[in-house]
Amino acid sequence: MSTITKPILKGRSFLAERDFTKGEFVYLIDLAEKLKHEKQQRIPHRHLEGKNIALLFEKPSTRTRCAFTVACIDLGAHPEYLGKDDIQLGKKESIEDTAKVLGRMFDGIEFRGFEHKKVEMLAEHSGVPVWNGLTEQWHPTQTLADFLTVKENFGRLEGIKFVYVGDGRNNVANSLLVGGALVGMDVRICAPKELFPEQEVIELAESLAKESGAIVTVTDEIDKAVAGADVIYTDVWVSMGEEDQFAERIALLAPYQVNMEMIEKTGNDQMIFLHCLPAFHDLETSYGMEIYKNHGLAEMEVTDAVFRSSHSKVFDQAENRMHTIKAVMAATLGNLQ
Ligand code: CP
Repeated sequence: MSTITKPILKGRSFLAERDFTKGEFVYLIDLAEKLKHEKQQRIPHRHLEGKNIALLFEKPSTRTRCAFTVACIDLGAHPEYLGKDDIQLGKKESIEDTAKVLGRMFDGIEFRGFEHKKVEMLAEHSGVPVWNGLTEQWHPTQTLADFLTVKENFGRLEGIKFVYVGDGRNNVANSLLVGGALVGMDVRICAPKELFPEQEVIELAESLAKESGAIVTVTDEIDKAVAGADVIYTDVWVSMGEEDQFAERIALLAPYQVNMEMIEKTGNDQMIFLHCLPAFHDLETSYGMEIYKNHGLAEMEVTDAVFRSSHSKVFDQAENRMHTIKAVMAATLGNLQ
């Protein structure tokens, strides 16, 4: 555990990296490390005994849903899953009214959906902590898991050469750029110019970097971006809801595929490969087969060789979703000593 002072996070929501100080964000990663150790050693950590947690999902999920569910149960809380057809959220009942109702019954609310505004409204009107399980703009619980995985491999976050390659304007790229700048990484977004992050996100990262000492780079030059990389990270080329854009994205992103040639260009034997998952690295999914039939690609954003290589830490990263989400809920709702 780090020696940093424990910040007061009780009652806070967790919506985006930009809402937290470096100390607060790093504390959540350190707390996750502690909770992971306690889980492995079977040491009880029931910081949410008797609490009820609503899990709102407008989109499908494997990792986030399972992580919140298991984390709730380990912490002594009851998770209640509410899918897009289970409640009226925004359809026959406003977000504001739904938030007020949920806040009368639940102690905390997780939300996965489209517009970031919705999770902000839930936080504004529910009166209980709200946690962002992914919106179109940000995926902050993913960033915590990613950075815990980095810390487990390198023992630190500051100065880590963290390279995200691919669609530079999706929620994961936004979160990594701002999160990396917050904690003081050498964070690089490598994408075709058409898929650079929005200027507002770059400017936010640059302003955070001035305080943390981070280095922020956005480039379309692959060799320059991956030189000396400690981490290469990628995500799917087409996010949920953008499936009609496959042909265009493949044309733009094919040169940015993470393959063994790219890994060798880092010149770093100790580098790790990360991916938030799910990944299209083979033909073992119906989705992957459809892309193969329509576009002739058997592997997309990452090759099977990289995905299965010793550099790949993607399943540690997936497990860390649970430990970090547990830390967020415990810190914002629990009675931590
Ligand atoms: N990485 C991630 O958010 O996974 P899920 O979509 O399965 O939750």
